[in-house]
Amino acid sequence: MCGIVGILGEKPVANELVDALRRLEYRGYDSAGVATVENGHLDRRRAEGKLRNLAERLSRQPLKGRAGIGHTRWATHGAPNEQNAHPHMTDKVSVVHNGIIENFREIKETLAREGVTFSSETDTEVVAHLITAEMRRGADPVTATGKALGQLKGAFALAIIFAGYDDLMIGAREGSPLAVGHGEGEMYLGSDAIALAPFTDRITYLEEGDWVILHRGGAEFRDRNGRKVERKSITSSASGFLVDKGNHKHFMLKEIHEQPEVISHTLTNYIDLVAGKVAFPDLGIDLAQVPRVTISACGTAYLAGLVAKYWLERYARVPVEIDVASEMRYREAPMPAGGVALFISQSGETADTLATLRYCKAQGQRILSVVNVRTSTIARESHAVLPTLAGPEIGVASTKAFTCQLATLACFALAIGRAKGTITPEKERELIQALTEVPRHMVGLLREEQPYEDLAHWLSKARDVLYLGRGTAFPIAMEGALKLKEISYIHAEGYAAGEMKHGPIALIDENVPVVVVAPDDDLFEKTVSNMQEVAARGGQIVLVSDASSEKVGCRVATHLSVPSVHPFVTPLVYALPMQLIAYHTATFMGTDVDQPRNLAKSVTVE
Ligand code: G6P
Repeated sequence: MCGIVGILGEKPVANELVDALRRLEYRGYDSAGVATVENGHLDRRRAEGKLRNLAERLSRQPLKGRAGIGHTRWATHGAPNEQNAHPHMTDKVSVVHNGIIENFREIKETLAREGVTFSSETDTEVVAHLITAEMRRGADPVTATGKALGQLKGAFALAIIFAGYDDLMIGAREGSPLAVGHGEGEMYLGSDAIALAPFTDRITYLEEGDWVILHRGGAEFRDRNGRKVERKSITSSASGFLVDKGNHKHFMLKEIHEQPEVISHTLTNYIDLVAGKVAFPDLGIDLAQVPRVTISACGTAYLAGLVAKYWLERYARVPVEIDVASEMRYREAPMPAGGVALFISQSGETADTLATLRYCKAQGQRILSVVNVRTSTIARESHAVLPTLAGPEIGVASTKAFTCQLATLACFALAIGRAKGTITPEKERELIQALTEVPRHMVGLLREEQPYEDLAHWLSKARDVLYLGRGTAFPIAMEGALKLKEISYIHAEGYAAGEMKHGPIALIDENVPVVVVAPDDDLFEKTVSNMQEVAARGGQIVLVSDASSEKVGCRVATHLSVPSVHPFVTPLVYALPMQLIAYHTATFMGTDVDQPRNLAKSVTVE
């Protein structure tokens, strides 16, 4: 996750860019840079390390342009050095970028064949060269940028300036946030409103797929098809980032929509994207020798652990024991010598999880934790911490923290698999590729919420809802049920699809909606058989699947279509429909989505 900023100012903007970057430093700080247009030419200053290094360089070698962009970097593609620092540029354009350009290798190869030489290892540089290539073919900056954007795959936010154009800046958003700030005779771009707070409080958030053409006199918004669109400006809260819901009605919805970006950020912490390998931190344990992994957590975090059990067993061939922390803490469970105990917690403060951690520590286990708050007690008491980089989660019902936990745990499973030799380098590359495609699939899925709004009318009338799934779709079904009951107060149960006939089938009638989570994987046919058992008893099915209707072959009330993804990553992608079903049902019913009754974000009591 990097921070980007852009200013079309009345006076030279370099110092203001650095000020804005200071407010974005929480997003990354391994290198930084700014570029401006001065007398028609682009010029830049970049520096490795903290922002003060850039500020020092600028004081020695100032930039005088009134149109400029800036970047504070958190390395994804390429080492954190000056050469890879943004802005990236050609003689015609300069670009700053936050996110991942997934197809940068293909674009780079094509451009290289056309004779383009690259001066960094980053994915970003292809954007500068793509636009330049279009301009050399005669396109104006706006047309060239539109064409280049159409070729990019991934999740990104961009700010772009052009040689010879002192009154032009273009921004684009696909999966990573970008805000436009409206000033008096000045215009701004920033990764969030807080970056722009001292300049203006009049903000317009770009929507997915939007791009914007800025002149000092105003902004022209375009959608992904290049059509001009209106986007409303809002007055941003002066108290900043934490209380700012952006364009969203609730924090929960904002956090659902942040997932493509925070998943990219979390993945890039554990993956070497250039090499297509896991790049795991040294945990101080020999992963090849781990005899067993014991997992414990509460609530949604426990369900992330349950998905991890499937991954660790299948890909790393490690036995896994898992239980909710409130049970495990008192079970006096025996632990193997040299075992690893893994704790998952958004807050890092949950009392039962912490107590279980202390029990396992006393049993001589090596303690690992997956936490979102790095300064938390669970993090402090662990031997090693695997942070989820979800950013602050305000909605009480966990969403982005859950999928970031999954992303981290998927990488952990691959790290053990590699150490044990249970996955080949080719398999590792295939699974890493699948993970890096997740943010893009999430963007696609979040584009179409109408089916969830429609479904909400019906679900809101139900007294009970059953969720079914097999394999990793089973914990996802449980997470779906948990989300629905947490925020809509409708009774819901998640069940293993094959277990339904041993009890819950007695509940089925035309008044009980049954949500079937069924990715088109090697368990699909089995889940369909269970679905037919439901249909035969008059059950109303909500199918969440990428399978075609022909393949489903039985009557369903609603089919929520999901992008087809590699079976390894289905839990990450299928978590989103679960969240959207619950969110839209609850908002339709008018409950307090962000602060549901009786619940707390951080449960520090037993
Ligand atoms: C509470 C929250 C849940 C969360 C659980 C565990 O019940 O409402 O959303 O999953 O605590 O919290 P933790 O901070 O340990 O992940």
